[in-house]
Amino acid sequence: MQFKVTPWEVRGKINYEKLVKEFGVQKIDNKLLDKIESITGELHFMLRRKIFFAHRDLDFVLNEYEKGNKFFLYTGRAPSGPIHIGHLLPWIFTKWLQDKFDVELWFQFPDEEKFLFKKNLKFEEVEKYLEDNILDVIAIGFDPEKTNIIIDTKHASLLYKEACKIAKRITFSMVKSSFGLKEQSNIGSIFYTAMQAVPAFLPSILKNNKIPCLIPHAIDQDPHFRLSRDIIPKLGYYKPASIQCSFLPPLTGVSGKMSASEKETAIYTTDDEKTIRKKIMKYAFSGGQPTVEEHRKKGGIPEIDVCYQWLRYLFEPDDKKLEKIYYDYKSGKLLTGELKEILIKKISNFLKEHNNKKKKAKKNIDKYFEWFNIS
Ligand code: TRP
Repeated sequence: MQFKVTPWEVRGKINYEKLVKEFGVQKIDNKLLDKIESITGELHFMLRRKIFFAHRDLDFVLNEYEKGNKFFLYTGRAPSGPIHIGHLLPWIFTKWLQDKFDVELWFQFPDEEKFLFKKNLKFEEVEKYLEDNILDVIAIGFDPEKTNIIIDTKHASLLYKEACKIAKRITFSMVKSSFGLKEQSNIGSIFYTAMQAVPAFLPSILKNNKIPCLIPHAIDQDPHFRLSRDIIPKLGYYKPASIQCSFLPPLTGVSGKMSASEKETAIYTTDDEKTIRKKIMKYAFSGGQPTVEEHRKKGGIPEIDVCYQWLRYLFEPDDKKLEKIYYDYKSGKLLTGELKEILIKKISNFLKEHNNKKKKAKKNIDKYFEWFNIS
């Protein structure tokens, strides 16, 4: 089956090599990794393991940074449902970037996006999830002094004019070929990409000063920025750079993307230990052998095992421990059930802590919106 990756649809077995060529992004090579390490002192495991693997103009923002010209980070989340662990992956990395580079983060909540793209979704439904999603983001630990949240409909008085400047330079045919939109697509969905472009230069406007921008995101968002990157310099700002990750595999198989609309493929931040256990025991795609005897003899295949992959993507940052799990599983020493137990414990602990932070986040929420009162 042909795979397909657009901002609104990810399907099939993704060939990331092919995607890099198709999108025209660069792979992150060792030279770039060395450069990051020379600034940050260490590499995040998502860089070491090539989970963040592609970029546009990352070298440019790093060079500017070294000259004393700091960038700001920009990322986002379109609310339409609960947060699952796949969403957390780029945010955890973004938090690391904020800490290591000591930079501002602008976080966009385009609350109109899914309304425009999902047939039966109402604004009331979106609003139900908006605040909860914001709390999940704050729970990641972003510095309240250096993090600003943008909500499209709430801050429209600032965003709309800038979006129009972008929209004026994008034609319908560009949107059709970049996103696969059709004659029949609603006109809101055709305009939307202009809204997602704005935070990449809004801080430069507010501070009346050109500031470089680095956007950490999953690779499916690239078409948005491929379009706007050429336009933004024409408005007088730096071309935004990006750093891109692959998708956390769904519970049911190692390719594709975790999907909030297929409930058994995802673990939500609200799932308790019992639910986590049930889902993993029942649905986790296994690289193990059908019987214990066979497993001991032949060993498992970590490359296709979702539990192993989730440890690699998120839940086992320690390379040595991960490597031990890899070889124990491959040799047959570690059984599928035992591997599942390791993961269940890791996720449960992680989410317990996350939810404690989420409870505390409520008190802090206003801080992330102060930028709007001042500007
Ligand atoms: N379109 C993204 C989503 O579907 C939300 C988003 C807005 C975003 N701005 C972004 C994602 C910048 C990454 C980077 O959730």
